[in-house]
Amino acid sequence: MSVKINYKNSLPKINSSNLVLFTDENFNISSLKKYISHSEQSYISDLLKTKDVKRKILFFDINSKRKIILISLKKNLKSSDLENLGASFYDQFKNFKQNQYHLVSDTSPNHLRNASGYFLHGLKLKSYSFEKYKTKQKNKNISIIVSGKNRPSLIDQLKFKSIEEGTFYTRDLVSEPGNVLHPDEYAKRISSLKKIGLKITVYDEKKLKKLGMNTLLGVGQGSVRGSYLVTMEWNGLKDKSKPLAFVGKGVCFDTGGISLKPAKFMEDMTYDMAGSAVVVGLMKSLALRKAKINAVGVVGLVENMPGGNAQRPGDIVKSYSGKTVEVLNTDAEGRLVLADALTYTEEKFKPKFIVDLATLTGAIIVSLGSEYAGLFSNDDKLSNQLINAGENVEEKVWRMPLNKNFDKLIDSKNADMQNINYVGGAGSTTAAQFLQRFILNKTPWAHLDIAGMAFSKYGGALNSGGATGYGVRLLNKLIEDNYE
Ligand code: BES
Ligand code: ZN
Ligand code: ZN
Repeated sequence: MSVKINYKNSLPKINSSNLVLFTDENFNISSLKKYISHSEQSYISDLLKTKDVKRKILFFDINSKRKIILISLKKNLKSSDLENLGASFYDQFKNFKQNQYHLVSDTSPNHLRNASGYFLHGLKLKSYSFEKYKTKQKNKNISIIVSGKNRPSLIDQLKFKSIEEGTFYTRDLVSEPGNVLHPDEYAKRISSLKKIGLKITVYDEKKLKKLGMNTLLGVGQGSVRGSYLVTMEWNGLKDKSKPLAFVGKGVCFDTGGISLKPAKFMEDMTYDMAGSAVVVGLMKSLALRKAKINAVGVVGLVENMPGGNAQRPGDIVKSYSGKTVEVLNTDAEGRLVLADALTYTEEKFKPKFIVDLATLTGAIIVSLGSEYAGLFSNDDKLSNQLINAGENVEEKVWRMPLNKNFDKLIDSKNADMQNINYVGGAGSTTAAQFLQRFILNKTPWAHLDIAGMAFSKYGGALNSGGATGYGVRLLNKLIEDNYE
């Protein structure tokens, strides 16, 4: 199903169409005379006495062709409340047979900047579904015409749209199965983003070998597909100022390797590239909205397979940083991919900060479920900026500890470190503590463990289930509020 939104300058004929109007918290319709006829008003007033006005959205069937929909806006509304209202409106109208609506933005209070914009943003985000592989697609198209002077400005329209497109791109990538979106195909898809103004550099196995990225290469060596590091640069400031850096885990499928995962739910591991997909979707949205910042996205793309050439438990590999790692469990592969990607990003781009995203540990789901991503960081300022941005767009993060006392759990007898700890628990923290060892120059760094956030079996406020795109809006907000 697709929802198209068209903005119109003047008020089109609305006396015969499905109308969406905002009211105050008491469904007071006296100010809506301009939009609804006298008889409609009295009909609605009568019915209002019988309706459950605790609900925020009420539908009135005027006749078989016309519905009037009232959305009540309480005082002190936040932008996320408006987004949630839009999403809940979508959930209710998606099954109606009507497919054209008029939204009159002027019925929203003037002090609420962009009320209709946030409302439609939530609606749009909720309307996404991945139907590429359904041979019978639901061909329903809903069109919403938005008129009035309180509609979002052109600049805000572009901002909303680019964030939607970035989020949808992330969701598309995460939803693709492992047989389609393997590393070779993924690298190609990212390369196609050249056309929107991103500078893309693809490092294939040969180049990675030369650079010494052996922890990344070790993970992919059991796969018939290639392994890649891909960088995406957005130069919105047209100068050489330090970029913001985003790094993502792109394990296109995680079987666990020789430390094979159990069969049950192994199919979920098609979303083990979600961290990288957030980085790609974010870079796409920054380019589309021509963000006034310099940013770089770096993703490590591999497939973790068992096979004749696969990495063995006990193997010792030398990372790009020069530090050596004993691979005790081939299923703790994400940190191996990120290790090389982090050091490379810090050395090559000398960024202001690095935020990495990864579906890194099952343990973070035990801690935080699907409510918060785990945040691990060496920097209080960056942490607080992420926490605030997360609260704002309802993509929340919860800070978890890093501490040198955890280091003993990953020190190895045979190499500089080992990739898992057998005793001591704290699985998500030890993974983060491992990553921290590959930040060599004290760059402010934050790691987001999004294992519980990337995919939703039941759907959330702004997604209808499946890939959530969690992180694209969070990072856009972080940038918009603090760096633009
Ligand atoms: N991709 C998984 C983590 C994961 C688990 C993501 C469930 C999403 C849902 C990761 O590569 C992994 O297998 N981690 C292991 C680490 C362990 C071997 C130390 C885990 O969490 O069990
Ligand atoms: Zn794994
Ligand atoms: Zn994994």
